[in-house]
Amino acid sequence: MRTRSWVKALSAFHVLCGVLVHAEYVEPSRLDSCPGYNAVNVTTSTNGRTISADLVLAGTPCNVFGKDLQQLRLQVAYESDNRIHLKIIDPLQPRYEVPESVFPRPQSGNSTLNPNIQFTYTTTPFLFNISRVGTNETLFATSAGHPLIFEPQYLRIKSSGSPADANIYGLGEHTETFRLPTRDLTRTFWSRDSYGIPTGTNLYGNHPVYFEHRLTGTHGVFLLSSNGMDIKINDTQPGVTSIEYNVIGGVLDFYFFAGSNPLEVSREYAKIAGAPAEVPYWSFGLHQCRFGYQNFVDVAGVITNYSAAGIPLETMWTDIDYMDRRRVFTLDPDYFPLSRMREIVDHLHDNGQKYIVMVDPALGYFPNEGYAPVDRGIETDIFLKWPNGSVVIGVVWPGPSVWPDWFHPKVQDFWNGEFELFFNETEGLDIDGVWIDMNEPASFCNLPCTDPWEQSRERQFPPPRAFPPPDINTPIFVKATKKNKRSILDPPYAISDAAPNGDLSATTSPVNATHFNNLTEYDVHNLYGTMMSTSTHLAMLNRRPELRTLVITRSTFAGAGRHVGKWLGDNLSTWEQYRFSIAGMLGFTSIYQIPMVGSDICGFGDNTTETLCARWAMLGGFYPFMRNHNQDTSISQEFYRWPLVTQAAKNVLDMRYRLLDYIYTAFHTASLDGTPVLQPLFYRFPNDTNTFSIEHQFLYGSSILVSPVTEENSTSVTIYLPPEGRYYDFLTFAPVPESRTGNVTLTNVDFTKIPVHIVGGAVVPLRVEGAMITDELRKKDFEIVIAPDKNGVAHGKLYVDDGVSIGQSRQTFLTMEYGNGRLTITGEFGHPLNVKLKRIRILGVPKRPSGVNFGGQANLNTTKEVEYDGEKKVLNVELGTAFESAFSLQLL
Ligand code: GLC
Repeated sequence: MRTRSWVKALSAFHVLCGVLVHAEYVEPSRLDSCPGYNAVNVTTSTNGRTISADLVLAGTPCNVFGKDLQQLRLQVAYESDNRIHLKIIDPLQPRYEVPESVFPRPQSGNSTLNPNIQFTYTTTPFLFNISRVGTNETLFATSAGHPLIFEPQYLRIKSSGSPADANIYGLGEHTETFRLPTRDLTRTFWSRDSYGIPTGTNLYGNHPVYFEHRLTGTHGVFLLSSNGMDIKINDTQPGVTSIEYNVIGGVLDFYFFAGSNPLEVSREYAKIAGAPAEVPYWSFGLHQCRFGYQNFVDVAGVITNYSAAGIPLETMWTDIDYMDRRRVFTLDPDYFPLSRMREIVDHLHDNGQKYIVMVDPALGYFPNEGYAPVDRGIETDIFLKWPNGSVVIGVVWPGPSVWPDWFHPKVQDFWNGEFELFFNETEGLDIDGVWIDMNEPASFCNLPCTDPWEQSRERQFPPPRAFPPPDINTPIFVKATKKNKRSILDPPYAISDAAPNGDLSATTSPVNATHFNNLTEYDVHNLYGTMMSTSTHLAMLNRRPELRTLVITRSTFAGAGRHVGKWLGDNLSTWEQYRFSIAGMLGFTSIYQIPMVGSDICGFGDNTTETLCARWAMLGGFYPFMRNHNQDTSISQEFYRWPLVTQAAKNVLDMRYRLLDYIYTAFHTASLDGTPVLQPLFYRFPNDTNTFSIEHQFLYGSSILVSPVTEENSTSVTIYLPPEGRYYDFLTFAPVPESRTGNVTLTNVDFTKIPVHIVGGAVVPLRVEGAMITDELRKKDFEIVIAPDKNGVAHGKLYVDDGVSIGQSRQTFLTMEYGNGRLTITGEFGHPLNVKLKRIRILGVPKRPSGVNFGGQANLNTTKEVEYDGEKKVLNVELGTAFESAFSLQLL
């Protein structure tokens, strides 16, 4: 990365794939002396909801990376009180935009507006400001010092609207700190296979959205663009954090949104990117995987060993090893024969367990050799092509490989067909979920490795009408800039792609590959993983339309959470990456709306150690997606391999499973309104500045605070308990004394423990004990734990359905309120729980009450025996009643 800018600074010529590529370096001052634009013909609609204008180049073009466009069109819309949509396009020449089919645009409200944020502007030069109405503070602002630049392959817009040392989060996927550095940061957006997930580089997924948090409120900025880009954050101007977008194509399509706190802003972003899909109940169980299970015996052995060790295993996975010569939709007839694999799947299913396998997008390119999937793909003609119409051949696991083009109108039928044939319940390999990988897409090389770039560059096809006609009111008789031929292979502005030599085609599909409708990889590269995700989700639904499924992907774009979950890719077995996994996960749950996320527990690359794996098992117990996975060349790391790790896994799985309905409820809520299921501490304490940079503690759901030990071989950890809150130990239920809030050091946290607290203010539904599989867990009784805040108030929710069906009509959805010593549980009991409510525990009760009244439908007609622990201040009310209707309970 850093060397890369030196390369650019020297204006170097790189030799790439035998072709000279020229990446010109331009001084920032040259960008800043560009003319910018003036706004003319400004029109505001009568209701004030929309503003549009023509933007006219305000001086001599600077033509830094191509010719400045003479005229642009500005469209601004107040889409709701909290959201402004701002677009700058070329009115004369349609440019690429992220297709609606991939990213459906949010609905604009039509109620009367009372906006909380506003758009203001000057015309000469055209500058704009997004500000918060209540406080009049600037959230995003362009300035004359950093003019707008709009060229065919370079768009630059820079905001100086954030204060110094701003609290900015997002712009992933990355391995930076969760609160982003505000000095000299370049975040590059270009999907990339990124083994070892190095800091400072572009990774698998692309989410050009950030949240900025201030004591006065929180806001978000989303640039809907799949083009390659660098977003730079810097503090060179005193008192200001600047955010600069450098995009190499498309249009400027911004959404600005705001709320009074981070949770509101998350929900606003969910209205744009979509709220996450509901996943099955079983998907919260433990998943075991590895690259390198040698054969069906190996796989069966792992299942047996988990059971023998008494560690709950919910889902067994198999990596590419199961395939015949690593060709997708095949089984190795010798190592993973169908009859034995069906036996394994039957065994799992008979025990209530599940099975998942890997599916890569790339199909081995072996036409007419008996590999039917590739022959069918060739016949349907759905593979990604070179501009000359021949199929792009890369190198992936099977060797020469071709990639489905997810834009092709027949690709879904092809994918459904392969799924139906291969993952056939009665004759094939039955699976419960899918793992999709290498979908940046990743290639080890482009074939032939000295490929004919020059030849393909010379071939031109007449451009089809890929876009709708321009607006009827588009101004005419302005001098159109001559259409620049785009230099796709050698874009004039080189984003800081970390691939070898910064070559956009290195380790992926070629940047000039052509998708259906003449879309080029250049524009749509960052969408590949998400489009595969959607197609795979649909193929699974096609097999079993009534069932939710679990699809876990590596590459994502904004909005992917509507269909899939995600794992954080090829991490390493290091303490650093163990720690980082928390920030990585928080990005996806609390910002990007992809909450089913986790990283490879115990680490993927390199060898883990017993203590790292024990700690990681415990932390992983609080990942939404809990999977142990590692590389073929690393030592085995199933949890039963070491006594310490076995115990750690058992301990944490007991906690996780008791909390499973609580987190399932959080997921259901997220699917309704985007409320994040895992949250950084500042989401809960937005006024406590000490929380803003905390990234090693997090909230699981809104009320369970997880504070893992972070240092190698240490048994102590210093954590922060915001003094405005109240805390209870999750295992003992004892309250934390007020004197032990703020920064506190916990000692004697051995390798089978993880510090977990309930944050006061919560009513938490728990199963009374864990189970070996989640089907069994659903038969366990409930207990309800009331953890009051400083005012003696608490609330919570419980959602239960059958755990697998789509579009539930029968659901139990309860509201649990506690205050003045009274608990009231109300709501719908549509899905029968068929279990008892074993007890209610009230925490932090200062003295034994004289009694407790309890009754159904709020009639308090039974006096209950209570058990009071004066030392821990816990009151237990044993009930053992059927949990099937509303009730109240009152301390006397
Ligand atoms: C990729 C995946 C990894 C997998 C391997 C083999 O590196 O990220 O999880 O094990 O491919 O399929």
